[in-house]
Amino acid sequence: MNGLASAAREDAEPGVHLLGLTGSLRRASYSTAILRALQAELDGQVRLDIVFPRLPLYDEDAEGTAAGQEVGDFRAAIAAAGGLVICTPEYNHGIPGVLKNALDWASRPSGKSVLRHKPVLILSNAPGFTGGVRAQTQLFETLLANQAFIAPERQIVIAGVADKIRDGRFIDKTNVAFAVAAVQRLASFCRRANPTQLYWTASE
Ligand SMILES: Cc1cc2nc3c(=O)[nH]c(=O)nc-3n(C[C@H](O)[C@H](O)[C@H](O)COP(=O)(O)O)c2cc1C
Repeated sequence: MNGLASAAREDAEPGVHLLGLTGSLRRASYSTAILRALQAELDGQVRLDIVFPRLPLYDEDAEGTAAGQEVGDFRAAIAAAGGLVICTPEYNHGIPGVLKNALDWASRPSGKSVLRHKPVLILSNAPGFTGGVRAQTQLFETLLANQAFIAPERQIVIAGVADKIRDGRFIDKTNVAFAVAAVQRLASFCRRANPTQLYWTASE
């Protein structure tokens, strides 16, 4: 390898693995379609895997070993990811139950949540003009309760989403570019920051 090639290799940004969490289990979900559109636009240095919140209903009696394989896998996937990208619809002015349920599982064991200090980017969408913004506000609160690092972005609210879908794909280039830029900033943060050194908590 010549000197230039090895210098280029040393300059290359380390890869970042992000986890995309959709707020909908619907087969033709717009939220999932948006995550897939982001996935397709990211370069080789940022990988976005998508996970579905198909988990049993939270039961505190089932904490620990009885929580089950899906819950264990879900927590492990979050723990292994550099950061999370959550894309959710709004149900009855709030977070869909499946997403809140998944975050409740992820929030335990108390004080050892995999969400703690996890960098998270939030996106919401809806067919209507409010774009799921009320769900986004609730999501913010839930993540804050878990001491996640919520990306300090302008809210990414995708309104009129049904009109931006063709053959199951999210095709609004402006929206995709806006969201991808935020995902890249999240990846950049994940690469450079050690969040545990930036966050003060009373327990430390
Ligand atoms: C139970 C339920 C409640 C809903 N409540 C709202 C709402 O409060 N605000 C809104 O903008 N859309 C609401 N919608 C419409 C959803 O935003 C729409 O169905 C969306 O496409 C679902 O997301 P998905 O495509 O990712 O499955 C609701 C839909 C359902 C099924």
